[in-house]
Amino acid sequence: MKSVLYKKTKKDFKILPNLEDYERTYERFNWKDWEKELAWFEDGKINAAYNAVDRHVDTWRKNKIALYWEDDDGTQKKYTFEDVALASNKMGNILKDFDVGRGDRVFIFLPRIPELFFSFLGILKIGAIAGTLFSAFQEQALEDRLANSDAKVLITNSELKPRVDKIRNKLPNLKHILVVDTESFTKTFAHTSSELHISHMDPEDYAFMLYTSGTTGKPKGIVHGHGTVLQQYLTAKWVLDLKDEDTYWCTADPGWVTGIAYEILGSWACGVTSVIFAGRFDPKRWYQILEKYRITVWYTAPTAIRMLMPKGTQLVKQFDFSSLRHMCSVGEPLNPEAITWAISAFGMPFHDTWWQTETGAMCIVNFPCMDIKIGAMGKPFPGLTAAIVDDQGKVLKDNEEGNIALKPGWPSMMQTVWRRPQKYKSYFVNNWYITGDRGMRDKDGYFWFIGRADDVIKTSGERVGPFEVESALVAHPAVIEAGVIGKPDPLRGEIIKAFVVLQSDQQAAISNKKVGDKLKEELSQFVKKHLAGHAYPREIEFIDKLPKTRSGKIMRRILKAKEMGLPVGDTSTLEEY
Ligand code: PRX
Repeated sequence: MKSVLYKKTKKDFKILPNLEDYERTYERFNWKDWEKELAWFEDGKINAAYNAVDRHVDTWRKNKIALYWEDDDGTQKKYTFEDVALASNKMGNILKDFDVGRGDRVFIFLPRIPELFFSFLGILKIGAIAGTLFSAFQEQALEDRLANSDAKVLITNSELKPRVDKIRNKLPNLKHILVVDTESFTKTFAHTSSELHISHMDPEDYAFMLYTSGTTGKPKGIVHGHGTVLQQYLTAKWVLDLKDEDTYWCTADPGWVTGIAYEILGSWACGVTSVIFAGRFDPKRWYQILEKYRITVWYTAPTAIRMLMPKGTQLVKQFDFSSLRHMCSVGEPLNPEAITWAISAFGMPFHDTWWQTETGAMCIVNFPCMDIKIGAMGKPFPGLTAAIVDDQGKVLKDNEEGNIALKPGWPSMMQTVWRRPQKYKSYFVNNWYITGDRGMRDKDGYFWFIGRADDVIKTSGERVGPFEVESALVAHPAVIEAGVIGKPDPLRGEIIKAFVVLQSDQQAAISNKKVGDKLKEELSQFVKKHLAGHAYPREIEFIDKLPKTRSGKIMRRILKAKEMGLPVGDTSTLEEY
């Protein structure tokens, strides 16, 4: 693969990176040697939340700021490591009083407020399983997740609670809803003990779960163990290059795995001071945050970078970013233009990192010590074996396109798919974990992303299953059926596009363009209101008939090919079309 090389020079190393020699480390690496950088209990057990926060309280970091928090309206709060440890102990005790124990599922449905972080840690500390929910979720998305997980307790606030009330009667196993901004909760919190016995867990014991989308069916619950913290910690140290002097900002939401791994567990396990901005995306506001907190390390997503680009380097130059020394990105392909723009705007590149909800931590990355091939995702993290394999799990040669695959057994690999053991098994072929992404490896060992092997949509970095959106659309009385695809988009990577077949009485009506446009808008809003604020179709096209296989499966790849003006490929299994 031809590419422009960004060669690291002295100016890139104002400070020596934590990992100085990738190749040498990769050759000699053994996870066992790094386990000792974590805190293990005397009985050999571990707790991921204890490693993120409490272990620092016994050191000089006790009074170090763990969290600077700022809201849209400029409200600010700050918490030391000790504050976070004690507040999460309290949350743990409150949950225990509600009879939450090991293995129980407790879900958090909150915006990025401090209570979200205290809750997450408190749940892990008592050995329960934490689930996180984007605050953009509406009733259908909430019901799917809370019902499938049999969540016992939900932690939310008074703004979001009404959405759960609407579906409460469908959730017989949801015993309690804690509303963190009520007077009674505040009182309870104040009176609850901040002393807590932290559960000793095996690395495989479940710690948190995240629902994520595939091509078919409802979202599936990816479950991670306490042992994930080892890889989250070491990747935060070597890829994000976190050091004690750093002030670090990850822009992700913990409804997404990035927010859990690099806003809570991995980054705090490094003892770093973090900034959390709870407000919306806005270029000027983001730059103010970078400047005001003198951020040194920044982890964000390609769509955000692409949204900053049109504001130009001009806007960047109005701020003082002299503290910034390292920038990384995740979640979708990092296009070369975004990197070259960053070099001209910030004087340094973004470092692409590749991983998934299922992998639990970064897997293929660009290290600070490594030259960047602009457009490549980088190389496998030490302790991981990555390859390009065919559908039978046979390793392919350099420069051949195939499935990006990993040798199972890395510390942060998912433990299971909640109550779907067959689904879990289906990820593995010939002792390779098949990622669902297609790519290739070049002769220098860099991995390149080509695309998804399935119909999963990535819009602004969010993973959306077409089936969920199709199901939401057909719930509208005007719709008979719908096929949903990701349509390439220069800003958001992809946008959701829906092809909709209408009930016959509607079909005549839409010959009037105005009526048709109104119905399109109504359908978009319908999905937004019932499924999720971010998972709605930005484009809708009415069609007479969907391409289907003879067994009735919607052929999304044909919709996509047509949309993009590409050949439709093999249609031998297709119903007459
Ligand atoms: O298709 C890949 C894409 O995002 C998928 C994983 O999405 P999710 O589980 O939501 O986790 C994202 C956060 C870790 C992958 O299968 N993806 C992720 N990172 C990259 C990427 N595609 C290209 N380049 C990346 N760096």
